[in-house]
Amino acid sequence: MIYHLPSSIRFIPGYNTAGMWLLSVILPVLRNYYIAMEVILKQLLGRSFLLPVLSRQDGKVAIVTGGGKGIGYHTAKHLAKLGMHVIIAGNNETDGNEAVRKIQQDTLNKKVEFLFCDLASMKSIRNCVQNFKAKNLDLHVLVNNAGVMVVPEQRTEDGFEQHFGVNYLGHFLLTNLLLDTLRKSGTNDFNARVVTVSSATHFTGNLNFDDLQSRHCYSAHGAYAQSKLALVLFTYYLQHLLTEDGSHVTANAVDPGVVNTDLYKHVWYPIRFVKWITGSLLLKGAEEGAATSIYTSVSPDLEGIGGCYLYNGERTKSANLSYNEELQKKLWTESCKMAALFVSS
Ligand SMILES: NC(=O)c1ccc[n+]([C@@H]2O[C@H](COP(=O)([O-])OP(=O)(O)OC[C@H]3O[C@@H](n4cnc5c(N)ncnc54)[C@H](OP(=O)(O)O)[C@@H]3O)[C@@H](O)[C@H]2O)c1
Ligand SMILES: *[C@@H]1O[C@H](CO)[C@@H](O)[C@H](O)[C@H]1NC(C)=O
Ligand SMILES: *[C@@H]1O[C@H](CO)[C@@H](O)[C@H](O)[C@H]1NC(C)=O
Repeated sequence: MIYHLPSSIRFIPGYNTAGMWLLSVILPVLRNYYIAMEVILKQLLGRSFLLPVLSRQDGKVAIVTGGGKGIGYHTAKHLAKLGMHVIIAGNNETDGNEAVRKIQQDTLNKKVEFLFCDLASMKSIRNCVQNFKAKNLDLHVLVNNAGVMVVPEQRTEDGFEQHFGVNYLGHFLLTNLLLDTLRKSGTNDFNARVVTVSSATHFTGNLNFDDLQSRHCYSAHGAYAQSKLALVLFTYYLQHLLTEDGSHVTANAVDPGVVNTDLYKHVWYPIRFVKWITGSLLLKGAEEGAATSIYTSVSPDLEGIGGCYLYNGERTKSANLSYNEELQKKLWTESCKMAALFVSS
């Protein structure tokens, strides 16, 4: 079944004219590259965030999605180094097991494991949560890190546009299914934490619920930005619900910066070539890119603090649109329906 996403990449209601094509396909590309250039400049000119020495976290448990490589790998590795029991949730068993082996070897922490979780499949997400719960572990940190960027137009197993489905809706479902465990595990001294990896691209994102039936031009850049905006809206509304019911759980969103990883494997070839030549010079390394995720996951500076957007280890403002409470609520309600999740809220 193809589910016609209310919030799909139909930014501009209308028809497939050249003008519309320019607006809905070219504009998101330009805006994304503009934002990326801005961030790269800021990274090059500014001081980079140095992760402070963090205290041991023995006895705590973390799940990191997409921890098999890139930013997620270094996040998982650092948390393991601090003594946490780390579970890498990913869709590539080979990569995942190799990451587990390397992390165990480097950190001498044996409590590192891989759990299969394909975020493009709700069934797989539910299976993963079931397998995790069968272990009877607590859960203190959930890092919603996995993501895809500017992939060609395709749909998830459940019929959602790929970026929206994997980056956003998959994590929406995963988080909600794990919320009871997070609630049980958080305490006054250490609130359980949901850390969600967004991106500066969210500043260019839009959510459009209105033009349900119109044909649309697919914009991979627009779709990526939309998914990253959705993650920020989700984080703020989740925090709102957690505060309301007095849970010892916090939710924050982070922006890793522009980081030299495989995320760029689907971008336009010439851009990939430029990145290949200049990436190690101009972009952050994956380990550096993980710093804000790690910091937000365990730093005492953020104890009990939620509903924030962090860049370079500092709380900063996200897009104006992300603070729109009506939009947050609407997205949450729609997401519950899309993920066939019926939670009281
Ligand atoms: N790199 C940057 O400049 C940058 C900037 C802003 C935000 N971010 C965000 O940072 C996060 C990590 O990205 P990265 O740069 O480290 O890229 P990456 O190296 O490509 O890592 C992405 C991870 O997500 C996993 N993943 C993709 N599809 C999945 C699925 N269906 N189910 C489960 N896991 C899946 C990937 O696994 P497979 O490849 O094996 O499928 C991989 O482990 C992403 O959310 C990204 O949007 C990155
Ligand atoms: C897993 O990743 C490896 C390389 O990192 C790749 O060769 C392999 O095809 C991937 N497997 C699946 C099932 O995607
Ligand atoms: C965001 O809102 C603030 C205050 O309401 C305003 O000053 C600013 O110009 C807005 N930014 C954008 C990009 O709309």
